[in-house]
Amino acid sequence: MSDFAQYADWFYLVAAVLFILALKGLSSPVSAIAGNRFGMVGMGLAALVTLAVAPNPNLGLILVAVIGGAALGLYRARTVPMTQMPETVAMMHSLVGLAAVLIALAAVLHEGVHHTGVQRVELFVGCFIGGITFTASVVAWGKLSAKLAAKPLKGEWVKPVQIILASLMVGLGIYYFATESLPAFFGMTAVSLVLGYFLIAPIGGGDMPVVVSMLNSYSGWAAAGIGFTLNNAVLIIAGSLVGSSGAILSYIMCKAMNRSLLNVIFGGMGTDTAVAAGEAEQRPYKAGSAEDASFMMGNADSVVIVPGYGLAVSRAQHALQEFAEVLAHKGVNVRYAIHPVAGRMPGHMNVLLAEAEVPYEQVLEMEEINSDFSNTDVVLVIGANDVVNPAALKDKQSPIYGMPILEAHKARTVVVVKRSMSAGYAGLDNDLFYMDKTMMVFGDAKKVVEDMLKAVAA
Ligand code: TAP
Repeated sequence: MSDFAQYADWFYLVAAVLFILALKGLSSPVSAIAGNRFGMVGMGLAALVTLAVAPNPNLGLILVAVIGGAALGLYRARTVPMTQMPETVAMMHSLVGLAAVLIALAAVLHEGVHHTGVQRVELFVGCFIGGITFTASVVAWGKLSAKLAAKPLKGEWVKPVQIILASLMVGLGIYYFATESLPAFFGMTAVSLVLGYFLIAPIGGGDMPVVVSMLNSYSGWAAAGIGFTLNNAVLIIAGSLVGSSGAILSYIMCKAMNRSLLNVIFGGMGTDTAVAAGEAEQRPYKAGSAEDASFMMGNADSVVIVPGYGLAVSRAQHALQEFAEVLAHKGVNVRYAIHPVAGRMPGHMNVLLAEAEVPYEQVLEMEEINSDFSNTDVVLVIGANDVVNPAALKDKQSPIYGMPILEAHKARTVVVVKRSMSAGYAGLDNDLFYMDKTMMVFGDAKKVVEDMLKAVAA
């Protein structure tokens, strides 16, 4: 052992502390950039220490991989539109899963190395979770990017196939444990890859964000499992952090949608329940222009803006921020209300508003703002639908009954900006749009906000 190797665990400990600081930093938009930097330094340190203690590293090959990976990652990070973030994250998880499989295979194939019983269990668990994560993430990526049909795979035969594959995988794993048979290990790996497909294909495209976060968790546990085999403390710690944060995130998303994880996996919302545009019941509603809306807000004392998925689609956040700033200069108390599952990924709206440099003190979470709606003059609902649907509070038959919502319907006046009367993600009609106090303003969110800005500034 080189002198340096004795100190490796201390450096790993520093890297682990940096990872924890990264997670802490990422929990708020104010500290997110610092959090990201902690993570990058921690990962850089962990990689350097691993290289320094590796017996005979092939530095040339590693350098090519690092430069190639960094260049690809940088390019993707700079070019990906915010709306394509969920599928990008799914793609990244597939790579973590693949890495776990490759590390496990490399460890198993390492000539002359005998693995103890415990190590064989760790290799088996790390490899099959990695295999499932890999194919499942590729399917999630395909569904989210519309490269694969978002429709869930259905049929009486699906569950038996899942059970047979899972049993086969565990059986081969046990055989490998007992005999160290390489063909059994390869077989188990192949079955886990096929099982990944069959676990995710039956889930509808709409539920993919929760699935992606679950896969995030799996990929972390896979890495932690392999970390035990390689006796690598930082891999165990980083894997466990990813595993538990992914699990907590899935739980938070399910809670905000008032659904259980099992319901997401075996239920499937945003698939069968969807009401296509035009199919919704014809009811009278009021419509107005961007200028009318602008006039109302310019003369209000308080305005609460509720952004949703449509804001992200039209990239209206910068225009919206400018509009809000003009209102604030006129003396209007402007605030933004954020629902935890507005948009299509956790923190979607916070990221958009942060990008437009909306002051953080104007951005309030659902629990902070809900009691204020009844004292608000105008609520501007922009590209949001399900997160303000009162059916979640009143209609026991509604699929979203019980989901906490932003109670925009309690405000004195409501302005809703969207392109049509069609449904949102859950495929449901929204009573808010038909209330006497509500004015619909139809159009692409960015165009409407730009028109409102012109009118208010005039
Ligand atoms: P949605 O309910 O999906 O409604 C978005 C609305 O935006 C649509 O009704 C659409 O109406 C409108 N829109 C689309 N493009 C637009 C554009 N260019 N300009 C103006 N409006 C546009 O969104 P939400 O209220 O943000 O709710 C999120 C939903 O996603 C919830 O049901 C939630 O459970 C689900 N979900 C969220 C997450 C996370 S983590 N955020 C994860 C999984 C599922 P038009 O077509 O008429 O314009």
